[in-house]
Amino acid sequence: MVDYCQCVFFTQFMKQELYKKAITVLDANFQEGGFTIPSAGLYPFQWKWDSGFIALGFAHYDVEKAKTEMRTLLDAQWGNGFIPHIVFHTDNDSYFPGADFHQSELHPLSSKKYRSTGMTQPPVSGFVLQEMYRIAADKEDMLKYIKEHIDKVFYNHVYFYENRDPQDEGLVYIYHNWESGTDNSPVWDDIWKTMNPPEYTFVRKDTTHVDASQRPTKREYDHYLYIIDIAKQHNYDDVKIAELSPFLVQDPLFNAMLIKSNQALIELYELIGGNEDKIKTLLQWQSKSIASFNEKLFDAELGAYVHYDLRNEKAIRHITSSSFSPLFANIPSPERAKVLVKTMMDKFGGADKYLCASFDPTSDRFNPKKYWRGPVWINMNWMLFLGLKNYGFADVAARMKHDSIELIEKYGFYEYFDCRKDTGEENTPGYGGNNFSWSAALFIDLVNTD
Ligand code: DGY
Repeated sequence: MVDYCQCVFFTQFMKQELYKKAITVLDANFQEGGFTIPSAGLYPFQWKWDSGFIALGFAHYDVEKAKTEMRTLLDAQWGNGFIPHIVFHTDNDSYFPGADFHQSELHPLSSKKYRSTGMTQPPVSGFVLQEMYRIAADKEDMLKYIKEHIDKVFYNHVYFYENRDPQDEGLVYIYHNWESGTDNSPVWDDIWKTMNPPEYTFVRKDTTHVDASQRPTKREYDHYLYIIDIAKQHNYDDVKIAELSPFLVQDPLFNAMLIKSNQALIELYELIGGNEDKIKTLLQWQSKSIASFNEKLFDAELGAYVHYDLRNEKAIRHITSSSFSPLFANIPSPERAKVLVKTMMDKFGGADKYLCASFDPTSDRFNPKKYWRGPVWINMNWMLFLGLKNYGFADVAARMKHDSIELIEKYGFYEYFDCRKDTGEENTPGYGGNNFSWSAALFIDLVNTD
């Protein structure tokens, strides 16, 4: 018989072993060029939002790697402030579509040093710098580093507000589903219905690394490629993209992360001192963005924030894990936050499920195994955990953290996980890439955060 003390000891031992494993995953994915791949094989380059979450993990045990990760990402910034979603550091041909398809060199201000995509990803860098400061043992040294890099992040936000907000609402658009990070969310199905792209001929690489049933379909890829082709025909010119792209969406997750990063920049500039003009600009963006966000993106009937299709001027009325992300950026009032959490728990929070599915489990578009169409993602859980904690929903926050850790303990550092506690199958409910960097990085941060 095992007594209580032995059990506690065993659990702590397992956590320590897992912590070591998380470090091994991150260190193995760190590359000579000073960046970390999300997962070997499937994602062989540097991805913008992955890099931010990865830097947070490094910050806990190897601060120089954390600094290098962000420095390399910011080094790939274009002359107009834009930071691309993928930086192609090598000629690795195990990923499609690669540098030759994207042709970032078409844009006159693209980086001359790195080839990249001509699209971006959620603006994580601001809040990541702030988290690095929070974690750092040597605050003075970290503030010095931040001082050297913060303006690049500020100019990235200038790029967004100057080029991605055609109606001057304080809400920026994305022009491709890959910019959202939630690549094949069922939310985009409504937009695919408005398009009829050509049938492309290409060789998929992702399905040679991962079971095709967990990845987007060939027809979905036709849509993805077609949007890029339109942007390329106009050398990734923002004005032309705003005019012509069939995909133009105000995404609650993307905008929430921008607002969270704005706030982080304000607080960091205050710590640094001076920079009054930048703080003033950031405060102006904040008040406008938060007001528009609450007015335009909240759907009172659904009790959640939703995406807005700017091209077709209509709300896309589905509940996703992105619907709750405004909690992370302090956007809803306390009353509205209660409504959000009720919606989350009613629809996503059953005892038979892990928090938090990426798409409404009560919808017929929900698929618990497929990429962003239902599975749990650790980066979303990390943001929701912090948001819930910040609003005082201690119990739900604790469950969000507990579920995230349990999924990793049971199944490993996968890219995404089945939200069903009982899948009725014997095989593992961890999907996509294994030894996935941000799952390891955010596990490290979660176990270090009360
Ligand atoms: C992919 O290839 O699925 C990537 O996530 C795009 O960013």
